[in-house]
Amino acid sequence: MASTRGAAEKAQVLVASNRGPVSYQMHDDGSLHARRGGGGLVSGLSAIGPDADSVWVCAALGDGDRAAARRADGGLLPAGDTGGQRVRMLDIDAAVHADAYNGVANSVLWFVHHMLYQTPLEPVFDAEFRRQWASYESYNRAFAEALAEEAAEGAAVLIQDYHLALAPRMLRRLRPDLRIGHFSHTPWAPPEYFRLLPDDIAAELLSGILGADRAAFLTHRWADAFRDCCHAVLGPGIPSGTRIGVHGLGADAEFLRKRAHEDDVNERMAALREEIGADRRTIVRVDRTELSKNIVRGLLAYRQLLDDHPEWRERVVHVAFAYPSRQDLAVYREYTAEVRRVADEINERYGTSGWTPVELHVKDDFARSLAAYRLADVALVNPIRDGMNLVAKEVPVVSDEGCALVLSREAGAHEELGEDAFTVNPYDIGGTAEALHEALSLPAEERAARSKRLAAAATALPPAQWFLDQLSELTGRPG
Ligand code: F6P
Repeated sequence: MASTRGAAEKAQVLVASNRGPVSYQMHDDGSLHARRGGGGLVSGLSAIGPDADSVWVCAALGDGDRAAARRADGGLLPAGDTGGQRVRMLDIDAAVHADAYNGVANSVLWFVHHMLYQTPLEPVFDAEFRRQWASYESYNRAFAEALAEEAAEGAAVLIQDYHLALAPRMLRRLRPDLRIGHFSHTPWAPPEYFRLLPDDIAAELLSGILGADRAAFLTHRWADAFRDCCHAVLGPGIPSGTRIGVHGLGADAEFLRKRAHEDDVNERMAALREEIGADRRTIVRVDRTELSKNIVRGLLAYRQLLDDHPEWRERVVHVAFAYPSRQDLAVYREYTAEVRRVADEINERYGTSGWTPVELHVKDDFARSLAAYRLADVALVNPIRDGMNLVAKEVPVVSDEGCALVLSREAGAHEELGEDAFTVNPYDIGGTAEALHEALSLPAEERAARSKRLAAAATALPPAQWFLDQLSELTGRPG
């Protein structure tokens, strides 16, 4: 539905992302149930307050969302559902969205930036991909047009992620007056890898982001890779009108510590303790089931720990929460199945009547994740590549007794937490097994001291600050 708002109702601050801060489920009687989402961007934006003149533009992601978008008055969702925030949900044609989100963003761009292609998993740039690419362009155009409609003169617009790489340039053409920022939550691939993409598409993606006044990243490493890609693909590199920024997103300590002591978390802690059994150490991991998280190699490393250090058998449990993600795509479904298969295989091989070596849960439950964080002796975070990885930052903040962190050197969080973590090469199963052994063997006082330092580093830049810093860099006004 097109916006008919007058100049006075237009927004001064706009955020755009594929997934918005609220989602809807339709009940059998046709009524809609709204559910608020979490994450850094939601808590970051809340820093500017519910009265601020802001609009969040996102895509409708299912039947419930689509119905809500169609029923929305003037295109904007009811404030009660969104926590006071004005949200415009775009009812993009379902096939166009599937091509853009599944086909281009999560099958190709995700794999390029996380460097996940390895024979026999290879990119296919054929006629079908070109058709999906046209959808990716229309999807980006829908966002650019909605932002152009909603933004007040000179407003600040913060566009998020690889789903929306073309939108900054499209928006710049529609509204040269706006201050536009783009933020990448993923790693950025080095040019040797990025240039797997067809040349015209590589150039379009880079030029799309360069349409922003500022292109920002989670770490210097990803920002440098973006610069290198611009030089390699576009020749002259970064135009003088675009600045590059780095904002490392931290954990929201205040929210997490409070939430982790609410009743539902306490109940789940009691249940988990029961499952784990008394006097056993706990290795915790929490991820969405997608290939960059490297869950299978993590399980294989745990299996090797039990082989190389049999003294840990019966004395440790690996609590692995792997929440299904992007299950419309076969490659993600197959990965989820592989995670289950390897966990089952470990339990069959080593389990005893009183000990289940791996407690795998695949149903998303935030309260249970927090309960596991509180119980963790060791957190295992071993992604192949990761923009930041907030789990690595959240566990030390929440754990009751302090935890040791086994951390991939390829996670953005390693730049900030590397000194007090046990660093691993994510491909090295033996090395990861040994790091788990060292982490489990750490004396309690040293573990607590390290965990405290990790928590301090992890919370140095809370989401509110992360968001306000970007806004003030964009507008030139102090945050
Ligand atoms: O890491 C990139 C990212 O877009 C995050 O910002 C987000 O948490 C995650 O991927 C979500 O992916 P999806 O919306 O596909 O579930």
